[in-house]
Amino acid sequence: MEDSWTSPAWELLLPALRAPRRQRRRLLESALRDAVRTGVIAAGTRLPASRALAADLGVSRGLVTGVYDQLRAEGYLAGRPGAGTYAAGGLAPPGPEPRPGAASGTAAAAGRADGAARPAVRFDFRPGQADPRLFPRAGWGSLYRQVLAGAPDSALSYGDSRGVPELRAALAEVLARRRGVVADPDRIIVCGGVAQAVSLLTRVLGAAGHGTIAVEDPGAPEHAMLVGTNGLRPLAVPVGDAGPDLSAVATRAALVTPAHQFPTGIAYPPEVRSRLVAWASTVDGLVIEDDYDGDFRYDRAPVGALQGLAPDRVAYTGSVSKSLASGLRLGWLVVPQRLVPAIVERKRADDLCGPVLEQRTLAAFLTSGRYDAHLRRCQRIYRARRDSLVAAVGRYLPAARITGVAAGLHAVLTLPGGDEVALADAARRGGVRLRGLRHYGSAAAPGFVFGYAHLTPDTITAGIAALAAAWRD
Ligand SMILES: Cc1ncc(COP(=O)(O)O)c(C=O)c1O
Repeated sequence: MEDSWTSPAWELLLPALRAPRRQRRRLLESALRDAVRTGVIAAGTRLPASRALAADLGVSRGLVTGVYDQLRAEGYLAGRPGAGTYAAGGLAPPGPEPRPGAASGTAAAAGRADGAARPAVRFDFRPGQADPRLFPRAGWGSLYRQVLAGAPDSALSYGDSRGVPELRAALAEVLARRRGVVADPDRIIVCGGVAQAVSLLTRVLGAAGHGTIAVEDPGAPEHAMLVGTNGLRPLAVPVGDAGPDLSAVATRAALVTPAHQFPTGIAYPPEVRSRLVAWASTVDGLVIEDDYDGDFRYDRAPVGALQGLAPDRVAYTGSVSKSLASGLRLGWLVVPQRLVPAIVERKRADDLCGPVLEQRTLAAFLTSGRYDAHLRRCQRIYRARRDSLVAAVGRYLPAARITGVAAGLHAVLTLPGGDEVALADAARRGGVRLRGLRHYGSAAAPGFVFGYAHLTPDTITAGIAALAAAWRD
């Protein structure tokens, strides 16, 4: 286990010390949060004792312990006061639904890391995953066997770096029909999820002279992490109620979630969408559209992909991570024609090509109509879970406000006057794991993001009842 500070971490903290005294704590906290989130301070690194850090930085010890407490509550740091504080590996999504009374793997691992006995996790509402139990094992398995039986020997060799042609053709049809994407197979690159798509784009933009990419605040920590680890600087831009205002930011690229903003769950209004593509034209730049859970909506009209408005200014990316299984690592990127050669070259340099048999299986899954049927089934099930969450919150937490419920796999809960850290602590003591909105950025209001798609209606209801009891106590 690493036991020392790296110099980039120090450099990140120093600007906070030059800030006016009133802002120091907030700035120090966000610098440390960003350093853990982006991996500048690696998971497992032991942080200095609060007394030592306070002395080194020339601030009060209370300020440092306050920062450590806050980041511990948010899951960025692990450990107990007096027993060592470590950077946590906080980006992992929650594991499968825990059995009631059993600690989840994540919690067990965290318990080992900090050596402290923690209350068992009975209900894990942290967002980030669909329900893996809905994966169509039988249908996928039979198609895979058919693909394997029918594939010529040559199909077992390296494939096209852009993705197998059958899959690109099938994706062009499905993305146009379901999401309004302007896609012809020649501009589609199959990749290992949105994660690889963002990595490829970031490096291609970097090679073309970009130094920064705007990311949403609040937003997915993965976005800042992917941009940062691929050599560009993420610039957090507040999303507010009306989407990010990029006019005041010195950058020519932005990574956004316009159809279902993560984590607030809003859909960017039409004027924000128009403003985004107009901005990209004005600065001769690029909008990267992460359509991470665009397939699920319940009671609002479909919001088509932003890419459809300006295919030459928007790079569109999505994956089967929420619709089928994140472990398949299958996603896609639809890019303006001018970027195709550089992206394909980068993809070839990365891994030669994606897994051929899985790509062919997905192509068959799409063209056979099974994908549409599977999404209809999931949509029905997730809607019932969403309804259970809304009903349980109305029943057990009547003072809470629940938003972002019209689409996606999570909702946002805010409480009048609630202190996020104290409430998360109380929930944890009651066996309920939550993720505070502060985890997703400094511009977030206090609140919690509830992932519900991986939990059954009964578990959701019991979990909200347990949460209400923990908060009452
Ligand atoms: C908003 C968002 N986009 C993209 C990803 C990564 O998705 P993929 O599995 O397609 O790489 C995540 C991962 O949790 C995410 O939260």
